Amino acid sequence: MVPMKNILILGGTTEARQLAAKLVRREDFAVTLSLAGRTESPVAQGVPVRVGGFGGADGLAAYLHEEHIDLLIDATHPYAARISANAAEAAERTGVPILALRRPGWEPVADDRWTLVDSVAETASALGTSPRRVFLAIGRQEAGAFEAAPQHRYLIRSVDPVEPKLAVPDALYLLARGPFPEVDERALLKKYRIDAVVSKNSGGEATYGKIAAARALGIEVIVIRRPALPKVPSAETVDALAAKVDHLFDPVAERGV
Ligand SMILES: NC(=O)c1ccc[n+]([C@@H]2O[C@H](COP(=O)([O-])OP(=O)(O)OC[C@H]3O[C@@H](n4cnc5c(N)ncnc54)[C@H](OP(=O)(O)O)[C@@H]3O)[C@@H](O)[C@H]2O)c1
Repeated sequence: MVPMKNILILGGTTEARQLAAKLVRREDFAVTLSLAGRTESPVAQGVPVRVGGFGGADGLAAYLHEEHIDLLIDATHPYAARISANAAEAAERTGVPILALRRPGWEPVADDRWTLVDSVAETASALGTSPRRVFLAIGRQEAGAFEAAPQHRYLIRSVDPVEPKLAVPDALYLLARGPFPEVDERALLKKYRIDAVVSKNSGGEATYGKIAAARALGIEVIVIRRPALPKVPSAETVDALAAKVDHLFDPVAERGV
């Protein structure tokens, strides 16, 4: 019998779920997906799931050891920098191999009106002093930073409700889960007469619609730059990462020998 390989995927992204679905088809892989527990009702992941923080790099290292993990995969969101740093550290400390799924960021193209900032806090001041109609598409965790700029009208979209509501006089809340096609984003920006979009540079297709829609309508997008992530072996797509996993555990078969 082929010995089972225990794989822990740090998730919270569509790609993590897709990767888990792909890897779990191999009968010699036991795949567990880890979620932080931020979303109240996450979509079904299709593999065993554990929820909640590990307790820093130490806690993750202990988990890798106790659960006899053979491979750690960091497939978290590009802005989830802390868990990625913890993953790299825990892998190094325990000697467990690590692979990361690093989705490439978007690049500005002709007619994009991007203003780049380094943090959410900086975004609030980048919007300027005159009142604007702002579409906040950065999730609920950091929306509070915009209380520093109460002169704007906000349209705030998130998967779960923003609680507490922002202490600003004019904010509208939309609950929705992507993907968000460009045509719908264009209609949304027009309906609310948005003149500034605030976005992370998430990369991928699912949330690019607002960037393309803003370009088409000539709307400025304040783009929060990506945080630095640890350098570990990585791939840019689910398929490329799955191929690396195969290669790691089955190097001979992978070469077709
Ligand atoms: N940041 C974003 O914009 C964004 C967008 C979409 C999805 N997400 C997903 O939401 C989750 C939280 O994001 P974040 O930016 O708050 O993360 P973060 O700042 O990097 O991590 C904060 C803490 O949350 C825990 N954690 C994060 N991801 C985890 C996971 N997959 N499994 C178990 N514990 C996890 C860890 O706690 P301990 O130290 O106690 O282990 C970590 O130290 C991530 O899984 C990420 O993939 C984030």
